[in-house]
Amino acid sequence: MKLPTFEPYKIKMTEPVYTSSREEREKWIKDASFNVFNLKSEQVIIDLLTDTGTGAMSDRQWSSLMTGDESYAGSASYYNLKEIVTELTGFPWVIPAHQGRAAENILFSVLVKEGDIVPGNLLFDTLTGQIEFRKAIPVDCTVKEANDLYSWFPFKGNINLAKLEDILRNNPHEKISCVIVSVTNNAAGGQPVSMENLRGVRGLADKYGIKVFLDATRFAENAFFIKNRETDYAEKSIREIVLEMFSYADGMTMSAKEDAIVNTGGFSAYRDEELYRKAVGINIVYEGFTTSGGMPGRDMNALARGLTEGTDQEYLKSRIDQISFLGSKLMEYGIPVIEPFGGHAVYIDAERFLPMVPKEEFPAQVLVCEIYVEGGIRCSEVGTLMANRNPITHENRYPLNEFVRLAVPRRVYTDNHMAYVAAVVKNVFNRKGNINKGFRIKKEEPILRHFTLELEGM
Ligand SMILES: Cc1ncc(COP(=O)(O)O)c(C=O)c1O
Repeated sequence: MKLPTFEPYKIKMTEPVYTSSREEREKWIKDASFNVFNLKSEQVIIDLLTDTGTGAMSDRQWSSLMTGDESYAGSASYYNLKEIVTELTGFPWVIPAHQGRAAENILFSVLVKEGDIVPGNLLFDTLTGQIEFRKAIPVDCTVKEANDLYSWFPFKGNINLAKLEDILRNNPHEKISCVIVSVTNNAAGGQPVSMENLRGVRGLADKYGIKVFLDATRFAENAFFIKNRETDYAEKSIREIVLEMFSYADGMTMSAKEDAIVNTGGFSAYRDEELYRKAVGINIVYEGFTTSGGMPGRDMNALARGLTEGTDQEYLKSRIDQISFLGSKLMEYGIPVIEPFGGHAVYIDAERFLPMVPKEEFPAQVLVCEIYVEGGIRCSEVGTLMANRNPITHENRYPLNEFVRLAVPRRVYTDNHMAYVAAVVKNVFNRKGNINKGFRIKKEEPILRHFTLELEGM
């Protein structure tokens, strides 16, 4: 008999899962103005809102906190972090950050100016926010296969190279800040980018003299998909693949709260010393000294250790297997989910799930609230609310797809929790015929509105 695979870790410490009644949840979600970001965590049974900063650190990471060097300058923990970042990526210049958007702020403060164009693959909300905040324009160049939700295209995060070349050719050179590639592509369903595509982006960038940066938040999961789906990479180690991925970029930003399995942290890294020096200037004004970026030494230690654990092949296999377990259960119940499943999450096609709720009434958000009421599961809308308004016309931007994202924290939940999640979604699916009304917006902020907005029933 072929032996099943299992998680390459055992559990030493637990925390309680809160339970609640349907009546309580109905009241709580109303009090939260139908925005799950406004719920208290003890009002949630299983939290799939995000995989960002919600992972379980290992005993090695916890013990490394004790040996953190808290020196203001020249901390040993910084050099520890820098060493592993350079070993993994090849980038010699590293600036720690307290989380991904701080790293993005530093890079974009150096590169992006008003009126610029930033081509990339369906940039994530914080990246889009950073670009639009500077009155620059993000241009989506994701391949068209990303919109064919049910085709088994292996690299739906890829950049459409023809479209990218059009943009690079037809716009003044000084207007293009850089090209940004998110690996994996969160906004497109956690879908990976192939090595061939990264190579192609590099080729175009060289041809037009433009720099390429990776939003490397989930670089290790991306590498795992390359190993398993791309010809010629099956025999390569994750580390070899990672190094090659970064060889096609001039630098990176990283929210380390995902693939480095820490509760806080991030960094930016650069190939070019001059760019790094400029970034250091911004970092010192906004974040902290060059060797900390505002991060305590202990957190840099945990991050460094997490980079090693997060690129371990066995760990990555169990991680991706758990997402597949959840996705397969949902499919078995007839739920419309995006295929192939993402690296960190399963995405539900909310328009197909709730065809009776018009897009003007935010069907994905309706489904998020229904799933919460049904079984206390918190997940997130990746649809019109997250897409925000057009900064010029102030009209809602309707994305091509309305998704509900079930993002799975790393090393936190078991497959039994996932089976519960799938059963809850199935119960909502069974009564979807009765769900035909959505929400209207009561209050919203001009940027990144989904975090704080308030809704009311129609
Ligand atoms: C692809 C991507 N980029 C950037 C970020 C921003 O990271 P942070 O929350 O650490 O600021 C996230 C967070 O989820 C993300 O998924």
